[in-house]
Amino acid sequence: MEKKHIKEIVLQNVLQYTDIGIHVIDENRKTILYNKVMAQLEGLKAEQVLQKDLLDIFPSLNKDTSTLIKVLNTKKPIIDKTQTYINYKGQKITTVNSTIPLFFEEEIIGALEIAKDITYLKKLSDQLMDLQHELKGNNYGDYTPRNKIKSYTFSDIIGKDKNMIKAIEIGKRAGNSPSTVLLYGETGTGKELFAQSIHYEGIRKNGPFIAQNCAAIPEPLLEGILFGTDKGGFTGAIEREGIFEQADGGTLLLDEINSMSWELQAKLLRVLQEGYIRRIGGTKDIPIDVKIIATTNEKPLESVKNGTLRKDLYYRLNVIYINIPPLRERKGDIQVLCNHFINKYNFLLDKNILGIEEDVIQYFYQYSWPGNVRELENSIESAMNYAPNNREYLQREDFASCSNIFIDKDLFGFSALNMKKPLPEYLEEIEKDLIRRTLEENHFNISKAAKKLGIKRQTLQHKIKKYDFRAK
Ligand SMILES: Nc1ncnc2c1ncn2[C@@H]1O[C@H](COP(=O)(O)OP(=O)(O)OP(=O)(O)O)[C@@H](O)[C@H]1O
Ligand SMILES: [Mg+2]
Repeated sequence: MEKKHIKEIVLQNVLQYTDIGIHVIDENRKTILYNKVMAQLEGLKAEQVLQKDLLDIFPSLNKDTSTLIKVLNTKKPIIDKTQTYINYKGQKITTVNSTIPLFFEEEIIGALEIAKDITYLKKLSDQLMDLQHELKGNNYGDYTPRNKIKSYTFSDIIGKDKNMIKAIEIGKRAGNSPSTVLLYGETGTGKELFAQSIHYEGIRKNGPFIAQNCAAIPEPLLEGILFGTDKGGFTGAIEREGIFEQADGGTLLLDEINSMSWELQAKLLRVLQEGYIRRIGGTKDIPIDVKIIATTNEKPLESVKNGTLRKDLYYRLNVIYINIPPLRERKGDIQVLCNHFINKYNFLLDKNILGIEEDVIQYFYQYSWPGNVRELENSIESAMNYAPNNREYLQREDFASCSNIFIDKDLFGFSALNMKKPLPEYLEEIEKDLIRRTLEENHFNISKAAKKLGIKRQTLQHKIKKYDFRAK
């Protein structure tokens, strides 16, 4: 069979079995391709659409409202546009569409639209927004969030390390200033704790505190969540306030700011500079008074360098900068944190643990804690569940589900080395362990880890493959 035919067959199958809607019109607006998914989305049958003028099928559309016709006229693509509409079967559908002009020898010969159904995601995000709105509504008048949701203040942040004390001091001052705050810390270092403390101990404590993780929501929906939507824009769009409006008079925590798209970062910057927002599809400028706390678990300047954080936004956010050190850099805090969590879980689990055996604490000091305070807290909670009822001091065996902590010392402690295996196997285990720890400490940055280990990048890459290490 000719290659051309094979390609055609493949293409036909892809078009039929993909879960993306596809609609192609020629230069006269006539539909030449309309797949099953697109038909389902629009509530039509292919034969109703094929070979017909687009405006005959969708009479409510015109050259401004139809993306296909617009692209045919402007010859410019429209990428990732969210649309909500009521289809021919009366179903409310939300899609993310990209519309692309088709050229042959520089002449436009048609336009292609691909549509991804995100109706269920949109529904979820709407429910989330309504819930948040309700929560805020219930608290009106006597706003006492402490009774409703668990909220933290600086007294909940445990740490005596000098860099930690410095971070807490800056945090306390940040709460009394209207300026934006940029919080940097690895996962589990307490960014959420800091953000809440800044709000609940600061001058805005009687206003709302709203947190949004920018990485958890699909990009096309995030804009609507932040700024809200208005009737108009497209059919079926609902009037809904965004979290900027909901957080008015209070604080908005934007978690993982560096995972926000470049375009949305630009929009956010504009809002921060101008002090008002405009809902999607709306025409009104709505003034807002919101304190922004943004967090990132990558060093902000590195994010700027690798292009995930806009430089202009970085400067706007970085008015007050707080760096929360990772646990491995403040090992002096391990003991106080252990005591704190033992007290906490004695109360919650109805136990009477007095402390942790000294040899286990020694393991804790040399462990790298990639999950930081969260990992320490979870390890203690787990051990307290495992420990027998008469236990006073937690022992190594109680930490059965936290084996990571104990790998290190076993390999180097000679007492554990009773030579049941040949030396090369021990050496391999030591190598594997050292590489694992160095990779974790360097966030799987191969160049940095190789430098630290004093080996070539390629050698390290080879060993990563051999031992099957992956970033978690
Ligand atoms: N200094 C601290 N004192 C007491 N508890 C802490 C401290 N730091 C973190 N924790 C506890 O560790 C857990 C994780 O903290 P938090 O959610 O604030 O981390 P995070 O930096 O926001 O992490 P992620 O980047 O994964 O979202 C929480 O249960 C919190 O109570
Ligand atoms: Mg967090």
